[in-house]
Amino acid sequence: MTLLTPPASVEIVEVAPRDGFQSIRDPLPTADKQRCIEALVDAGITRLEIGSFVSPRAIPQMADTGELIAAFADRPSLRLSALVPNLKGAELALEHGIREVVYVISVSESHNRGNVRRSVDESLEDLGRVIERLRQTEGTRLRLDLGTCFDCPYEATIGWQQVDRVLGQAIHLADGLPMEVALCDTTGRATPYQVADHFTRLRERHAREGLAWAFHGHDTFGMGVANALFAIHHGATAVDSACAGLGGCPFAPGATGNTATEDLLYALQGGGVATGIDLPSLLEAADRIAALPGGQTASHLRQVPRERVS
Ligand code: COA
Ligand code: ZN
Repeated sequence: MTLLTPPASVEIVEVAPRDGFQSIRDPLPTADKQRCIEALVDAGITRLEIGSFVSPRAIPQMADTGELIAAFADRPSLRLSALVPNLKGAELALEHGIREVVYVISVSESHNRGNVRRSVDESLEDLGRVIERLRQTEGTRLRLDLGTCFDCPYEATIGWQQVDRVLGQAIHLADGLPMEVALCDTTGRATPYQVADHFTRLRERHAREGLAWAFHGHDTFGMGVANALFAIHHGATAVDSACAGLGGCPFAPGATGNTATEDLLYALQGGGVATGIDLPSLLEAADRIAALPGGQTASHLRQVPRERVS
């Protein structure tokens, strides 16, 4: 009999301030966002995607990312990152003191065009420029978010070979620069076996020193926690999630947010996996986030009587 051994620790990357807040159409007051982030930090969150540097016309909700970074800049234990779609975004992020740039490319052509208005090859070209910029700036890190790795709203199921092509080129461009690659289930439609398959095949082909693996999942089909666990058991050392399961899109019925951080934490705690996060405090942060006007949340643990959760 072989028992499944949980890893000693996993890094949770809290993405509610980016993937969650961006789903709320009307810009929230910065002070409200700040209070939510404060609660997340109090709960022990240390990796936080605090926002994005994108066109404020594309996503007005993210326009105050610089202010939020300034509000948390004095916390040395906090590893803040920001998502960018192009070199301009990376430069803005660095100017605002961000040391971890999350560069996003969807592996499906149609989704990349819809999201960042250019082809996958054009995004890769710009990634080359971002990499050069980061090489020149000491103390910076690169996270590559590969969107639609499992399913695309326009092209349906995505095979690992399609991811392989984009990932192979990105690794070639990085040329040894350390990088964390997140395979992203943008639509929340992946299944655990598909996640295991992609991680196994891609790591077999590309594993190398300086390359870390992560998973970014949504819970639309209820697979979020299971997918994250399969990713962890097939090589991911970091997983993205959003407190309260905040997210979804007011224009896409049925779409939900990222896997709820508290649901994932509960699963990990069951295996004795260390994350540094305190569950009761995280649930307080989830209540604060759920009270934001205009947000959709989806968390199992928030529905359970508190005295049953510990
Ligand atoms: N940050 C802030 N502003 C930016 C920017 C960035 N990273 N990139 C471009 N802009 C500005 C340009 O300066 C220009 O401003 P102007 O009209 O005042 O001169 C405007 O946005 C349009 O620039 P352009 O290069 O023509 O971009 P575009 O209109 O083709 O849009 C993106 C491309 C990538 C900027 C836009 O689609 C975008 O921001 N998408 C982000 C989508 C996203 O965040 N999705 C969710 C996360 S995965
Ligand atoms: Zn997402």
